Amino acid sequence: NKKGFIFDLDGVIVDTAKYHFLAWRKLANGLGIDFTHKENEQLKGVSRVRSLEKILEWGNKSIPEEEFTSLMAKKNEEYLGYINEMDASEILPDVERVLNFLAEEHQAISLGSASKNARPILEKVNLISHFHAIVDGNDVSKAKPDPEVFLIGAKLLNKQPEDCIVFEDSVAGVQAANAANMISIGIGEEEVLHEADYVFKDFTEISNEFLGQIISEQIK
Ligand code: BG6
Ligand code: MG
Repeated sequence: NKKGFIFDLDGVIVDTAKYHFLAWRKLANGLGIDFTHKENEQLKGVSRVRSLEKILEWGNKSIPEEEFTSLMAKKNEEYLGYINEMDASEILPDVERVLNFLAEEHQAISLGSASKNARPILEKVNLISHFHAIVDGNDVSKAKPDPEVFLIGAKLLNKQPEDCIVFEDSVAGVQAANAANMISIGIGEEEVLHEADYVFKDFTEISNEFLGQIISEQIK
């Protein structure tokens, strides 16, 4: 049996939310808008454009289109400054063990991320060669919870959606996986990700035995 395993990036493979937080906070504060960790949580899985729209909504601010465009570019420049310093030590616990196990089992592996920075990040942490396909923010026209990103991933892996399994840390991402008719595995809090078929705190809780059962369809 060969399945397609699709990994979200931010919050699943690496904890980049802390860098998004620093970059968005700098931008928001520069506009006189408060930005807390609680607000940052609400931007998980959300596209860059939509994130800035939300921050402006929270601050009750409207700005001209040119300023919007230049602020997005500035935010990303700031974010890339942090990304540049990343290395393999930032890979989240047991991600490599899971990737290696799936490779040994000859499973197909794709990335399915909203980020336009996905490739440079995978290169920085030295994981890019683990992926047979990469679908990121540059490849989609509709953001999660739309299933587009995962459906493209399935297609590139030559798999039917029902033979794919998605690892996601965001609510929008879990909803996208469900809408794609894939098995959704939430990485994070059960209360937040209750729409997922399975939820684990992190990859240390996902055993090779569990993955083997998914592959051989002993569990669905
Ligand atoms: C998602 C992150 O993976 O990618 C969001 O969870 C982020 O926080 C989005 O806004 C877009 O990322 P980027 O790197 O293209 O700004
Ligand atoms: Mg994520």
